[in-house]
Amino acid sequence: MAKLTKWVKEDTDNKFVFWPTEEMKKRAWISEESIYKEAAKDPVAFWAVRAKEGLEWFSPWTETYQWNPPYYKWFVNGKINASYNALDRHMKTGRRNKPAIIWEPEPVNEPKRVLTFNDLYCEVNKFANVLKSLGVKKGDRVGIYLPMIPEVQIAMLACSRIGAVHSVVFSAFSGESLKSRMQDAQAKVLVTADGYYRRGKIINLKANADIGANDTSIEKIIVVKRAGNEVKLMEGRDLWWHKLMSKAPLDCKPEPMDSEDMLFTLYTSGTTGKPKGIVHHTGGYLTVALWTSKWDFDLHDEDVFWCTADIGWITGHTYACYGPLLNGATILIYEGSLDYPQRDRLWEIVEKHGVTIFYTAPTAIRMILGWGEEWLEKHDLTSLRLLGTVGEPINQDAWLWYFRHVGGERCPVIDTWWQTETGATLINSLPGIGPFIPTVAGRSFPGTTHDILDEVGSPVKIGEGGYLVQKSPFAPGMIRDVYKDPERYKSQYWSIYGDKTYYTSDGAIKWDEMGNIRLTGRVDDVMKVAGHRLSTAEVENALTQHDSVAECAVVAAPHDIKGEVPIAFVVLKQGTTSSADLVSKLVKQVVKVIGPTAKPEEIVITDSLPKTRSGKIMRRILKALVKGETVGDTTTLMNPETVEDLKEKVGYTR
Ligand code: WT7
Repeated sequence: MAKLTKWVKEDTDNKFVFWPTEEMKKRAWISEESIYKEAAKDPVAFWAVRAKEGLEWFSPWTETYQWNPPYYKWFVNGKINASYNALDRHMKTGRRNKPAIIWEPEPVNEPKRVLTFNDLYCEVNKFANVLKSLGVKKGDRVGIYLPMIPEVQIAMLACSRIGAVHSVVFSAFSGESLKSRMQDAQAKVLVTADGYYRRGKIINLKANADIGANDTSIEKIIVVKRAGNEVKLMEGRDLWWHKLMSKAPLDCKPEPMDSEDMLFTLYTSGTTGKPKGIVHHTGGYLTVALWTSKWDFDLHDEDVFWCTADIGWITGHTYACYGPLLNGATILIYEGSLDYPQRDRLWEIVEKHGVTIFYTAPTAIRMILGWGEEWLEKHDLTSLRLLGTVGEPINQDAWLWYFRHVGGERCPVIDTWWQTETGATLINSLPGIGPFIPTVAGRSFPGTTHDILDEVGSPVKIGEGGYLVQKSPFAPGMIRDVYKDPERYKSQYWSIYGDKTYYTSDGAIKWDEMGNIRLTGRVDDVMKVAGHRLSTAEVENALTQHDSVAECAVVAAPHDIKGEVPIAFVVLKQGTTSSADLVSKLVKQVVKVIGPTAKPEEIVITDSLPKTRSGKIMRRILKALVKGETVGDTTTLMNPETVEDLKEKVGYTR
């Protein structure tokens, strides 16, 4: 395939602006700038057209949008089923025998698995019947704690088929993390696996699942046999997936769900130690999952879409399950590590399966960039047509490298801003319209409105920064509640600027007249560690559970590859002496309680933490220290001498 060189760029001052080529425009579902204005004229009508055109409803809605701040509803009284729309619809078309899921296992010699829409349909029907036979009913919560294997999509779609609410927990989270989420969700059944491969080793997932199921309402655990490692099954509670499936009937009628019935909850970190269950409902979520997949990635029938995100995150839910499948598109999922057994594994996968759309996180791009171009050069990557990024701000160098070396300057880079709470992408450029500007995500998706406000709630001017908010009509896929905690829903999202303005907790800059937006990162105590969302309070909770810790404070420090990393300041209990051994035990403690993603980059043992006279820890000072910024005024501190001491200890006189 010839290299396209038609990108118009203004590379003066090291500023780049790229526009779609004629070829890209011709291919794209959307290539007219006017879509933004048309949608803005009547966003509710715009979404009504999308919901009607894209999805099959069992019965129509009576009201498109209802708003009782801070709550809103979409497609009120409409009846719909997610699994029916992702599967049954395609059974009547030529897509029936098209691959729905291509699964690449981590061990190189193990064959891939391909499930056609027909296969997936059969498996989902059977597993839906399995769940029913175990007493799972509409509205019941089902925990899913699985690695990236097709059973994860099967389990999710089976839940949605019978109206059960799935709550997926990232398989690299610890048993303890699983437990607190299952307790909150009051799950009846948990679906897990014996183990999975990670860098050539088998991780015993079932052992973690056992910890997670303790002291919960889980009655049954269904275990997928994936890695063949030895596991203990508890008589009467634990059941093998394959045994249940071998007896399950093939037909399960999809449950007609109300548009505003819950489809799933997904736990995410907030500013407190307790993760919150983000609630997503059915009709609105399906609408945005479908249309953002189609328009952002210019998804067509011949595409192979590889979203590298784990299913345990919202990105996996929307772009490695619901979105592409609703479009009848083929998704590729990969079990293991991108660099196993070598640093070109991911490019080998792209080449082998002819991946056309590749969607990953800036962290991964920065890591791959560091490995050098020789790993890419071994492979033919010309199947790639479009590149995406998500999860954290991307720096210009990484953006340009991705564009040049991975995309060969043929592929637009779509930088998508969104959150677990928003269900689907919201701010990004569209591939047939552009522009594509490194570090600038783009414009609000048609039919949605964002603004950037200052401290007092006035919109900032072009070129200025402030806080990103969303305005009514809220995108159909937006959060409906925090599971069993409406107070947290109200205080987190609807208190800063009142109950009519959704507060994102992100900083942003108004880039230009066109409405482009540059995201600058979280403004609360939520870290993005290698794209993973984590609260500093969670890490603190994990550390204070250790016997030798008296007190601690965790802050995020900037990191070249991971974006941010947690740094812990720890005061030991009287009589405990600091040692390398103790420090490594503390690190292990965090991994045990939360999982490896939360591993502190550094633990600084100190005699005291900087505090105000009223005893409050001054995080502002710790943040400045780890960023190498000037600490500023310390006169209000109870113990200013601590700051001097910490300055030396941190070693961050950067
Ligand atoms: C936070 C949400 C949404 C899927 C993955 C993350 C940050 C997300 C971008 C982007 C700059 C971004 C924000 C946001 N974020 N995408 N393209 N540019 N920042 O979901 O775990 O809920 O995290 O990720 O800070 O608030 P999440």
